[in-house]
Amino acid sequence: MIDLNGKVAVVFGLANKRSIAWGIAQKLSEAGATLAICYQNERLKRDADELAGSLASAKTFQCDLSVDAEIETLFATLKETYGKLNILVHAVAFAPADEIKNDFIFTSREGFRIAHDVSSYTLIAVSRGAMPLMTEGGSIMTLTYYGSTKVFPNYNVMGLAKASLEACVRYLAASLGSKNIRVNAISAGPIKTLAARGIGDFTKILDAVTERAPLHRNIDQLEVGNAALFLASDLSSGITGEITYVDAGYNITGL
Ligand SMILES: NC(=O)c1ccc[n+]([C@@H]2O[C@H](COP(=O)([O-])OP(=O)(O)OC[C@H]3O[C@@H](n4cnc5c(N)ncnc54)[C@H](O)[C@@H]3O)[C@@H](O)[C@H]2O)c1
Repeated sequence: MIDLNGKVAVVFGLANKRSIAWGIAQKLSEAGATLAICYQNERLKRDADELAGSLASAKTFQCDLSVDAEIETLFATLKETYGKLNILVHAVAFAPADEIKNDFIFTSREGFRIAHDVSSYTLIAVSRGAMPLMTEGGSIMTLTYYGSTKVFPNYNVMGLAKASLEACVRYLAASLGSKNIRVNAISAGPIKTLAARGIGDFTKILDAVTERAPLHRNIDQLEVGNAALFLASDLSSGITGEITYVDAGYNITGL
């Protein structure tokens, strides 16, 4: 059994009960971790408070990761509240609606910038914020998708942002390794969440997984949570800079 008693985890990206962040938060909490759950803005506060309230030891914090000052304030607050951090979960991504609707050739400069800023750069920003608090070493993880590597309909600029995010995981792993801070990504199969709703023909992607993945089914948030629990724990102490697929095996198939 994995025991995270005495460990403090900060989780970014909770929007509602369908969020992957929520699947992960539940698993970390079951294992005994103290949780700082972050939501993006006032609009999401009620859901975040309600969900966090159902966990043994969780507080909520507001932080828009596209604003440097909010990140700075958040980590100062986390330092004051907990004194240290052991685990950081980054489950945050965004691209403007047009960019994941229009043909890829019409990707705008601004849409490209925003997608990369929110979906990739923010991992660097929060890792830097967490670094001085990870005094006992730490485990940082993010969520990516196979669209970084292969072309999926409508995923468009988000595929580029995920490719950047995966490279970011490797560079951060190299940068933070000497502090015994590990950095990994989970590449989740498609799950119907708020973010996924923005991607046209998402059901087709889900159906392709059922048909072609070795396990012939889709995965859920709690299965991602289980992999996150492993990456958060000492059981994965020798693993850093890796992309772990939780996708029912879909990525190994050719046809
Ligand atoms: N759902 C899928 O099929 C799937 C598959 C693979 C990877 N992912 C990734 O998982 C992660 C979580 O997404 P999800 O599917 O749970 O959807 P979600 O909509 O529940 O979560 C996305 C979160 O990103 C947050 N966010 C966006 N911009 C932000 C900002 N500026 N500051 C702070 N937070 C911000 C949103 O508030 C939301 O909580 C994303 O990185 C997504 O790309 C999702």
